[in-house]
Amino acid sequence: MCGIVGYVGQHAVGPILLKGLKRLEYRGYDSSGVALFDEGGRSETFKAAGKIAAIEPMVLAKDQTLFHGGIGHTRWATHGAPNTTNAHPHRVKDLVLVHNGIIENYREIQKLVYARGYKPVSETDSELFAFLVMFEMEEHKIDLIEGVRRAFPKIHGSSSVVIMSEKQPGLIVAVRNGSPLVAGWNKEFGAIVASDAQPILDHTNKVYYLENGDMIVCQKSGIQFFDAYSGKPVERKEVTIDWSADRLDKNGYAHYMLKEIHEQPRTILDTLHAYFEDQTHRPFEFAKNAGIDQLSAAQRLSIIACGTSWHAGLLGRYWFERYTHLPVDTDLASEFRYRNSHFTPGQVVMGISQSGETADTLAVLQDVNKNKVPTLAITNVKGSTISREAKSIFYTYAGPEIGVASTKAFTAQMLMLVLLAGRLGRDLAVNDSQGKKMIEIDRLYRELFEVPHYLSMALETGGSTANAVKKAAQDTLHSKAFFFIGRGYSFPLALEGALKLKEIAYVHAEGYAAGELKHGPIAMLEPGVTVIVIAPKDIWYDKTVSNLQEVKARGAKIVAVGHADDKTLASMADHFIPLPLQSKKPDGQSTLDESLTPFLISPILQLLSYEIALSKGTDIDQPRNLAKSVTVE
Ligand code: AGP
Ligand code: GLU
Repeated sequence: MCGIVGYVGQHAVGPILLKGLKRLEYRGYDSSGVALFDEGGRSETFKAAGKIAAIEPMVLAKDQTLFHGGIGHTRWATHGAPNTTNAHPHRVKDLVLVHNGIIENYREIQKLVYARGYKPVSETDSELFAFLVMFEMEEHKIDLIEGVRRAFPKIHGSSSVVIMSEKQPGLIVAVRNGSPLVAGWNKEFGAIVASDAQPILDHTNKVYYLENGDMIVCQKSGIQFFDAYSGKPVERKEVTIDWSADRLDKNGYAHYMLKEIHEQPRTILDTLHAYFEDQTHRPFEFAKNAGIDQLSAAQRLSIIACGTSWHAGLLGRYWFERYTHLPVDTDLASEFRYRNSHFTPGQVVMGISQSGETADTLAVLQDVNKNKVPTLAITNVKGSTISREAKSIFYTYAGPEIGVASTKAFTAQMLMLVLLAGRLGRDLAVNDSQGKKMIEIDRLYRELFEVPHYLSMALETGGSTANAVKKAAQDTLHSKAFFFIGRGYSFPLALEGALKLKEIAYVHAEGYAAGELKHGPIAMLEPGVTVIVIAPKDIWYDKTVSNLQEVKARGAKIVAVGHADDKTLASMADHFIPLPLQSKKPDGQSTLDESLTPFLISPILQLLSYEIALSKGTDIDQPRNLAKSVTVE
């Protein structure tokens, strides 16, 4: 995920691009760049690792009256380290482009580029698209617009590209497939295109949302819309936004919970930034933290927490068991506290708490400390009581969570756990010279950097995932009961999905391991009941689908969450919610490893609860009988 801005018009280009990019920094900020074009077609590029502030002085030092157009980018690297060379815009001969997304068949294109005697300058997938456009233009003797149109269908995956040419400096061509693009124009200002409406609202509140497969040509004189595949003109409606840019900054959402759901790609970026000293996606160092040594020395890990944090702890067990040899148990703090727990040598106890103030979790850590057993904590609040009680602390970087129902803090807790499991697993693999395990964990880390991108697609308002969530919510709203079922990683997610729905919509909802259904709860299934089945393509998939057959036979309504290309699941469900993931890409791999699907599934289930609660008219941010932090037993 990244932020893009392009502008052609009579106002000073540099400041418009910089201000717009700053508004998009929430989408990524590991490197940035701007290219400015003058009337004669000469362009200048300014790039740097780091935030927009790093390029700002270089851009502003230029005489702005020289330029009449340009493009800018704030990057969240997926292919290649976040350094100046890999920063966008990328230039190939007269072509200059910025790109948002992932070109899945980039290896194939790279081979083609080398075969034709060229050598890309950067390690990015993005630069390769400029070569494809150049090949098309040279081969067919066509202009930029036609070149982009012919090249675009050749890249796989979700991508949006904004491109200019020194030979046609008065125009910007933009294409969308997946990652959002919005455009705006007025006579006095010119034309602007960006990754969301915020940079545009500073200049006009009349915008056009590009649909997937749209290509636009922006000129001072206006914007033309085309179908990127056929080249035929298409009509797009102008939308008037009645929010001011200020309101959009933070509080444009109807509820804190909705805002916090949408902040989750950012939460992941912030937490990754905090824990990776180096972002090459290669073996890395965790920022120095004594907790790492404690965990490395552990013989057994006991995780304790309450509510949503306990669900994160349950997921942690799956990750630690997959990537390490460490025996892990996850317990409710309120139960652990009063059991006759026997500590064993080498045992480490980890408390998880968003607020850092939960009474039961705190009490367990205090008891454990008295027993001289090492304690760790994962919490979101610096200086909280739990952060002071635990011997070592891993902070999550979700920022303040105002909605009582936890959303982004849960995602940050999951992320912290998968990072720790991977870190320990990699140490073990290095020591045992297990090459395969190292490759597996390196892939995990590499793909973690792609998660914000897929998550922002899943959450995109009006996108196919969010639309399916809305429809499912409207149709199941009056169900007399909801069952959430899943296996493996999807079991704790089922518990969390049900908890969220209970908390904010006040409806009867239960989460079950899908294999447990036939041991009792199946007796409840009949028309009028909704079963939400979480079935991504993972090692548990076939078993979950068999359980789904049992549900279908009992007449319950089925809402299924699965990979976008899963036709079997879609055909069995009354409502299919597609994750923006493919189970089999052209290279035979899935978009993301199964370990990472919870990062997409959980926010989608949060959105489902939100939509149901919204229709029911409950107090979403402050649900009845609940408090944000439970400081009593
Ligand atoms: C989450 O939506 C709940 N409000 C609740 O279950 C919460 O997770 C639990 O009270 C634990 O809180 P903590 O993470 O602050 O310790
Ligand atoms: N895949 C591209 C890169 O690694 C674009 C990433 C982005 O969307 O910021 O540079």
